[in-house]
Amino acid sequence: MLFNKPLTDIIKQRKSIRSYTEEPVEKEKKEALNKFLSANTIGPFGTKSRFVFITSIAQDRESLKGLITYGMIKNPPGFIIGAVEKKPYNLEDFGYLMERNILLATDLGLGTCWLGGTFSSSRFAQKIALQNNEVLPAVTPVGYAVTKLSVIDSVIRNSAGANNRKPWSLLFFKNDKPLSIEEAGHYAIPLEMVRLAPSANNFQPWRIIMESESNIFHFYIKRVPGLKQLSFMKSDLQRVDIGIAMCHFALQAEEKGLKGLWKVHDPRLGGMTKKLDYIATWVGSK
Ligand SMILES: Cc1cc2nc3c(=O)[nH]c(=O)nc-3n(C[C@H](O)[C@H](O)[C@H](O)COP(=O)(O)O)c2cc1C
Repeated sequence: MLFNKPLTDIIKQRKSIRSYTEEPVEKEKKEALNKFLSANTIGPFGTKSRFVFITSIAQDRESLKGLITYGMIKNPPGFIIGAVEKKPYNLEDFGYLMERNILLATDLGLGTCWLGGTFSSSRFAQKIALQNNEVLPAVTPVGYAVTKLSVIDSVIRNSAGANNRKPWSLLFFKNDKPLSIEEAGHYAIPLEMVRLAPSANNFQPWRIIMESESNIFHFYIKRVPGLKQLSFMKSDLQRVDIGIAMCHFALQAEEKGLKGLWKVHDPRLGGMTKKLDYIATWVGSK
């Protein structure tokens, strides 16, 4: 098993942590993280990522300056930094793999917070020795959460609606109609784990369409109009979000013994999908 606790518990436990206690991450936990990071390199679309854990020093925090939320990440004792090859589907693969790192950290009792930005010319890029054929789309602080939310934490959580998630009826469909939990069958829990996933600005851009009488699920992005033009969204974080959704879905399916694989073959379903960007399909074998 990948994690010690059931995945549903880990996913429900994880939330973005922006204030840390400065208590360092213990040696054994660092070792467990490093072992996991070094094996977590190939995403479902086959692009290669590399991840490193660093103990943070004051200058590393400077690298967060481009972020709108800079100044709101307090005392991070360490970071996981990741780099991914510049290839099609790299951001989806990166989202998939980085979320596995985040779930492992959560399983170890550590707090994290996805921070997406353009870190390619930052100290983080130096720390991971970023190559010309790679990008660095996001990092996460890693450490122990302060027990009481600071005022700033609460303000960010409220403005992103962090505790809210869209209902099933806005996310999952079959024949252009909302998919019910009963119709989802064995896949109800994997879909629920997608619903609870983190996403940039909590936009939850994933839309999933189940094919009738099958275990086939098509994953799409519902674009937020104008988002690509916003400077802080330079690295198309909605593609990273889809990778995160695919990670939750596939890990939960695996934990439930549901076998399947990812394929890229747009079924051109028409209807509501005309306003969505197709990304990939889960083909379940039972
Ligand atoms: C790809 C990505 C990028 C994010 N970037 C930031 C960021 O720059 N600053 C920040 O404070 N939170 C960031 N977040 C965290 C989201 O705001 C958060 O996941 C969302 O509001 C849901 O809250 P939760 O993680 O506590 O469940 C990011 C999340 C994702 C998935």
